[in-house]
Amino acid sequence: MASRAPLPASVQDQIQIAPLAPFHAEEAARLHILGQPGTFLTALGPGVLTVLYRVLPVSPVGFGFAALDEKGHPLAFAAITTGTGRLFFEMGTRRLLDLLPPLLSRFVQDPRLIGRSIQTVLYPFLAHERETERAAELLAIMTAPKWRGRGLGAMLLAAVEESCRQRQIPLLDVTVDANNSGARRFYERQGFAFRREMMLYARPMALYRREIAPS
Ligand SMILES: CC(C)(COP(=O)(O)OP(=O)(O)OC[C@H]1O[C@@H](n2cnc3c(N)ncnc32)[C@H](O)[C@@H]1OP(=O)(O)O)[C@@H](O)C(=O)NCCC(=O)NCCS
Repeated sequence: MASRAPLPASVQDQIQIAPLAPFHAEEAARLHILGQPGTFLTALGPGVLTVLYRVLPVSPVGFGFAALDEKGHPLAFAAITTGTGRLFFEMGTRRLLDLLPPLLSRFVQDPRLIGRSIQTVLYPFLAHERETERAAELLAIMTAPKWRGRGLGAMLLAAVEESCRQRQIPLLDVTVDANNSGARRFYERQGFAFRREMMLYARPMALYRREIAPS
C-alpha cells in the first residue's frame, strides 16, 4: 500500500478534533460503510448505523471523536464504548422506533443477518469472557479513503487515549478482521499488542489491547 505524505503542519492546523456528536451520525455511518465493505455492521445498512452513531455519543457507555475539515465536515471518526452490551441495549430501547424499520427491512432482505445480530449481542461475552479489568472497546475508527495515511487516525487515537486517561480507563481493546492487514499495521504502530484470535460471524478476528499510561 502506498503511504501518503503526512499532513503538513499548516493543513493539520485546519483539522479540528472534536467530540463525536449525534449530528455527525449520518456521515459516520457513511464513513463506516466506505471503510468496512463486506462486514456485518455494514450489511445492516446506513439506517441502522446512523442509529448506532446517534446513540453512542449521548450514551453513558459511549464516546467518540471526529476529525473535521474547516467547514466542520467529518473526514474521519473514532467510536468507543465502555459497555458493548449496554450500548446495543440502549439502541434497542432509546431508539427502538428509529431502529426497527431499517433493521427489519434488512432482516427480510437477508435473514442470515438475524443470527449474526444475536452473535453481536452476545459478542461482549464471547470476546471478554471472565475478564474483570476495566477496558474500553474501540468499536470503529474510519478515515475517508482519500485522507488515509495522512495522520488523521493517529490524531484521533491521541484524543481517544487522553479521554480514556481522564475517565480513568486503563485499557483500550479493539477487535479487527484478521485479514484487515492495513488496520492491523495501524494498530501495531499505535502501540496495540496482539492478544489472540477468535471466530466471529464465521470470520477470524484478531483482538488487540493497548495500555493507557497514567499521566
Ligand atoms: C486504519 C485507518 C483508520 C487508519 O487511519 P489513517 O488516518 O489512515 O491513519 P494514519 O494516517 O494516522 O496512519 C497511517 C498508517 O495506517 C495504516 N494504514 C491502514 N490502511 C491504510 C491506508 N488505506 N492508507 C494508508 N495507511 C493505512 C498504515 O500502517 C499507515 O502507516 P504506514 O503506511 O507508515 O505503514 C484507516 O486507514 C481506515 O479508515 N481504514 C479502513 C477502515 C478500517 O479498516 N478501520 C479499522 C477497523 S475498525
